[in-house]
Amino acid sequence: MKNILVTGGAGFIGSNFINHILKNRSDIFIVNLDKLTYAGNLNNLKDVENHQNYFFVKGDIVNDELVNYLFQKYEITHVINFAAESHVDRSILGSEVFFRTNVLGTNVLLENAKRFGVEKFVQISTDEVYGSLGPVGEFEETTPLQPNSPYAASKAAADMMALAFYHTYHVPVVITRCSNNYGLYQFPEKLIPLMIINAMNNKKLPVYGDGLNVRDWIYVIDHNKAVEMVLEKGKVGEVYNIGASTEKPNIEIVKLILKQLGKSDKLIEYVKDRPGHDRRYAINSSKIKNELAWQPQYSFESAIKNTINWYLENENWWKEIISGDYQNYYKLQYSSRSN
Ligand code: NAD
Ligand code: TYD
Repeated sequence: MKNILVTGGAGFIGSNFINHILKNRSDIFIVNLDKLTYAGNLNNLKDVENHQNYFFVKGDIVNDELVNYLFQKYEITHVINFAAESHVDRSILGSEVFFRTNVLGTNVLLENAKRFGVEKFVQISTDEVYGSLGPVGEFEETTPLQPNSPYAASKAAADMMALAFYHTYHVPVVITRCSNNYGLYQFPEKLIPLMIINAMNNKKLPVYGDGLNVRDWIYVIDHNKAVEMVLEKGKVGEVYNIGASTEKPNIEIVKLILKQLGKSDKLIEYVKDRPGHDRRYAINSSKIKNELAWQPQYSFESAIKNTINWYLENENWWKEIISGDYQNYYKLQYSSRSN
């Protein structure tokens, strides 16, 4: 039995991970430590809340006393650190909480992993630590880090700290760097769910700059299967890139969403660009494919359809979100963007 501390398990990727693991594995016990920030949502975990191999703790990864207590009480053998402030635009509005959670919080988890001698520590990082690409080339694990946003810089700092704990104290760290995810339960501040929900409500779809920035998309289930493989077989001290080779300019995604929802392109509104906006991401995942035999299983065409249909069928999930503090965030974000 593995006793895994999953942090940030009430967020988008973490909740998909917990749902996936508890449905498919009986040899894993999960303690989910989540602060329930604006991005954390226990509705994502309704199907597993009473599962015998699951326990939820509301708390902060920066709280060393709490983290120490959980390691001891649940005899934690593995850590998967999903917890983070994860949105670039919010990091531009204010960077402090990004430094606190993403850097200090990761450090607290690493210190406890060292103290209790865990078997593996999976640090969930991002391709954004590599910076921005021109029209050609891909990020490899050896690409020098050049983070451009406060979010990306805080994730890069956490990566460096994790690798330092491996080299100095032999904490069995493995780092994953994945490209942009989409799927069920994604908070509607990120491109795909924001555009789906705005289109459903006949609201304008704010496209930054010329709409030609490129992201490399992966369905969240494919990402989480890769994380599961890294947990099992990933070599300590190593970094694994994860991606599905699905590069798309933003405007193409926005138009596809409008088409599937039967809405007019007139809803598109080009707005002021994001400051420091990375132009292109593209990830080379040969290493995880060759060494761990991982392969993405979902095509973009079918998984994006599933995703759009899920938002259509789960209005209650997102209506609860957009009726809260979200409106204040939305006004703040987009009042500064009108051209
Ligand atoms: P999210 O914002 O949806 O969820 C983050 C979760 O962390 C929330 O449940 C939140 O309550 C929790 N959290 C925040 N601060 C915390 C703290 N101090 N203590 C405990 N819990 C805290 O994020 P996501 O999109 O699910 O991303 C998960 C991880 O994957 C992040 O580390 C992110 O950097 C990384 N990542 C995300 C993407 C993507 O496309 N979303 C791509 C690559 C990597
Ligand atoms: P986002 O989902 O915030 O992910 P990231 O910045 O981490 O890649 O944004 C994806 C792309 O979509 C990025 O190029 C910014 C762009 N974007 C818009 O054009 N309009 C929006 O309202 C948002 C949220 C993003």
